[in-house]
Amino acid sequence: MLDPKGIVTIDGPSGAGKSTISRGLAAKLHFTYLDTGAMYRAVGLALERQGIDLADTPALTKALAAIELTLTPNTDDDVRVLLDGEDVSQAIRTPEMGMVASRVSANPLVREKLTALQRQLGEKGGIVAEGRDMGTVVFPKASCKFFLNASAEERARRRQKQLAEKGQIVDFQEILDQISKRDYDDSRRTLAPLKAADDAILVDSSSMGPEAVIAFMLERIAESAR
Ligand code: DC
Repeated sequence: MLDPKGIVTIDGPSGAGKSTISRGLAAKLHFTYLDTGAMYRAVGLALERQGIDLADTPALTKALAAIELTLTPNTDDDVRVLLDGEDVSQAIRTPEMGMVASRVSANPLVREKLTALQRQLGEKGGIVAEGRDMGTVVFPKASCKFFLNASAEERARRRQKQLAEKGQIVDFQEILDQISKRDYDDSRRTLAPLKAADDAILVDSSSMGPEAVIAFMLERIAESAR
C-alpha cells in the first residue's frame, strides 16, 4: 500500500466533489485531509474585512504577515478553520466567499504565503491535499495525483444541493454562472492556474457517486505503490 508518508493530490474545478472525495479518501488511507480552498477563502475573508486593496502592496504584505490560520480536521463535516482564533468555518462557505477567494488567489503575495503554509503542513506526509495547484506547484513530487472533473451543470446541481442542505437557497442559473466564471478565472490566471499535472490521473465524476470515485482512486493508489 501507499507509503504512510505519501502525499495524494486532488485538483479540479469548483464543485467537482473534491472535498467529499478527499475527505473520504483520507479516512480510508488514515491520512490527514488538507483543504487548501478553505485557506484561500479564510484569507479572502480577512482581507475583505480589513478592506485591503490588493494593489496596495505594503498594506497587503502587512495584513498577510499578521494573519494566523489554523486548520483542524472536523469529525462531522468540513475542516474547522480558525482565523486569528475565530472559527470562520461557516462564514467562508458561501458562494460569495468562493468568488472572493478566487479573486485573491490570483495575487502572488497571497499565493506565496499559502503555498509556504501548505508545504509546511504537508512536510510530514500522510496527507490528501485538495485544491487547484496541488499536483502542479505545491507538491510536484506527490506519490499519486488526481484531477477530478465533472460537467459544469452537474457541478452546479451538486453545489445547489449542498447549499440547500445548509439552509441557503440559491438559484441554479446563478450558481452555474458563478461556477463558469470561477472556472474561467482560475484556469486563465498566470500564477498556478487550474490545470491537470502531466502525470495526474483524470477522473470524470459526472456519472459516478463518491464511493465509486474513492474505490477507483484507491485502486490507482495501490497500483502506483507496487
Ligand atoms: O476549492 P474552493 O472552492 O474552496 O476554492 C476557492 C477558490 O480558491 C478557488 O476558486 C480558487 C482558489 N484556490 C486556489 O487558487 N488554489 C488552491 N489550491 C485552492 C483554491
